[in-house]
Formats: sequence, structure tokens, C-alpha cells
Amino acid sequence: MRSHETPFYFYDLDLLRKTLAEVKRCAFDGNEQGGRYHVHYALKACHTPEVMQTIFDAGLGADCVSGGEVRAAIEAGVSPDRIVFAGVAKADWEIRYALQHDIACLNVESIEELENIDLIAAGMGVVARVCLRINPNINPHTHKKITTGLSINKFGISLDDMMGAVMRCQELTHISFEGLHFHIGSQLTDFSPFRSLCVRISQLVHQIEECGISVRHINVGGGLGVSYEHPNYYCMPDFEGYFKVFRTALALREDQHLHFELGRSVVAQCGSLITRVLYVKHTSQKEFVMVDAGMTDLIRPALYDALHKIENLTALHEGRTERGRYDVVGPICESSDVFAEDYELPLCLRGDIIAIRTAGAYGEVMASCYNLRRLPGHIVSDGK
Ligand code: LLP
Repeated sequence: MRSHETPFYFYDLDLLRKTLAEVKRCAFDGNEQGGRYHVHYALKACHTPEVMQTIFDAGLGADCVSGGEVRAAIEAGVSPDRIVFAGVAKADWEIRYALQHDIACLNVESIEELENIDLIAAGMGVVARVCLRINPNINPHTHKKITTGLSINKFGISLDDMMGAVMRCQELTHISFEGLHFHIGSQLTDFSPFRSLCVRISQLVHQIEECGISVRHINVGGGLGVSYEHPNYYCMPDFEGYFKVFRTALALREDQHLHFELGRSVVAQCGSLITRVLYVKHTSQKEFVMVDAGMTDLIRPALYDALHKIENLTALHEGRTERGRYDVVGPICESSDVFAEDYELPLCLRGDIIAIRTAGAYGEVMASCYNLRRLPGHIVSDGK
């Protein structure tokens, strides 16, 4: 069967459901502000239909960054009033599509985009609800390529321009200013940048409200990190600690709502890339385990120097005790097509099945057909 040919993604829906239960427990239970907390799933992390459906069945809203994602969320049955749309530069058709479907909010990333949304909304005879995405210039202390909240990054409206943008919202007749949006970066395992973000948000909200303009919605984006080193031990991200930061550092008024856009932390641990050893190649320098998955199937190691835990499932099953150190590489014609260097594994043999773990987020969605390869398939386990 096509989907069982390696390489393919495997998703454990039981673990996903447990993760979703933990998200809801930590966000809402015993939280007196919980009724005003809203968790949106950032579907850019994984939009495999069975995964998305499980998440939306659990009641999460949707965070989208393209018209295609807004469409996918609507087609998956998410109510438009639970869909938010960020995206650093939205095309006219994307804005029109979002307005046609009357989604909850467009997160606007520049004054230029704001003016364009007003123009399109006027043409359609509607009023666009917007949050302004502010670039708070906070260092998230994560990989450079997944840092978004520094002033050198292309995202959001700068602190200097914020008040001007808020005032422009008041003048534009087809714009309704709803609040502020932030997203400082991804894969944060140290929570202090989130604390700094809360302090900054409180200052900015105060600054705006002093002008008599109310900030009803605050969206803090996503970013909660996961353990790539020990996915078996830490299969559950620290949702408890994460939500606690916001509960304690961000006081909401009665009529204020707090939105989260979690992607990676929801889906990373439930997915693995399953691949097969094609050859074990010995050179005078190294031993290469050459697998049939490559950077076209999982680009994170090549793009962000990410190290995903690798397991030889066949060797584990057979109880092989001998071990070796290998470079685990793919078949793509690129030197960066490397999953791990000098990595300890049980003795590897041609035909062994390998799992590359913590691949549920930004794995299958980032696959490409480079080298005219075919896209990986996927299977889900469902003990429901
Ligand atoms: N909201 C916005 C506006 C975003 O740009 C992102 C991610 C999220 C929410 C979700 O963030 P998360 O909870 O997943 O950290 N491909 C990279 C990650 C790129 C993240 C892009 N934005 C990777 O594989 O590490």
C-alpha cells in the first residue's frame, strides 16, 4: 500500500488526544480567567487531515498564515468566529477570502497592509476586525531562523509605529481595532522571554488605553518548545508552566480576552518519520547509515541544525546489543542532507526500520519534491 512504503509519517492520535486534554486542563481548569482564554491551533505545524480533525474535534480554534490555511480550517469545520489570520504580507485574494468568511480577526503586520485591508473591506461593504501585530523587540533565545520578535525581523509593526497604526485604525472607516497580536519565536524552552513579553504587553495596552481606545483582545502567538532529546521521557510539553506564566504575569480585565496560537507543542511528539536503511556504507573516515528519507521529507536538520532523536526499531525489536557510531544521511544530492553526525545507534543493517522522532510539527508540511522525489505518505494509529 502506497502509504506504508517508506518513508512515511506516522501519527499517534492517542498521544495527540492526551496532549490536547493536557492543553485544555492547563489553560482552562482552575483558572478564573479561563473563560476568556482561547487556544488556536497553528495549523502550519501540521495539516494532515486526521491530525487537524482530532485537534478541531477537541474544540481548539485555528490560527492561519495563508488563505490556503484559512480555507483548510473552514473546510475542517472550524467556526469562522474561531479563526484568526496572521501572515506577514497578505495577498488581496487572501484578505477578500477571510472577509467573505467573516473570520474572527486579521492580524495586521504593517500600516500599508492595514490601508489595503480597509480598501478591500470598503469595496465589499464590510468592516474588517483587526488586531495589530506588534514586533516587541524581545529576544526569544531560540534558533536565529525561528526568531520573529526582534526589531531586525520582518514581522509586525515596530514599537515606534504602534501608536500611529492604532490611530490610523480609528480613522479608517472599514477597520475595527480589536487589539494586539504578538509572536516572538518558536521552540522556546526557557520561559523568561514570555515573561518579558507579558511586561511589554501590559505597558503597550496601558499606553493605548490612556488614549481612550480599548484593547479587547490580546494574542500572544505560539512558541512553546518541546524536547527533541528525550521524546519518550518528556512526551508532554510543559503546558502547566507555560500557561502559568501568562496567568501570573498578565492581568486581564473583565472584558479582555487572551489568545494563544500553539503549533509545535500540540503535534510534535505525536509524529515520527519512518524510514528504511538502504545501505550501511563504510569509508576510512566514517560509517554512514543511508536511509530512504531525506531533507525533502524532513528539512529541519538541514535548515535549523535540528537534531531529532533517531531509533532503530528493527534493532530494538530484535534486541541487538552491539552498537556503532554513524552519520545518518538521506539520498538527496545535497551535503546538508544529514539527519545526525557521529550518532550512537545499535548495529544498523540494510533493511532496518528507523524512526526519526518528534517530527509531527513542521515535518510533513515542509516536505518537497526536490530531486523529483515523491511526497511522503502518512498513516495514523487510532486506538479510539
Ligand atoms: N503564530 C504565528 C504568527 C506563527 O508565525 C507561528 C509559527 C505560530 C503561531 C506557531 O508557533 P509554534 O507554537 O509552533 O512555535 N518551521 C520552523 C518553525 C516555524 C514557526 C513559524 N511560526 C521549525 O521547524 O522549527
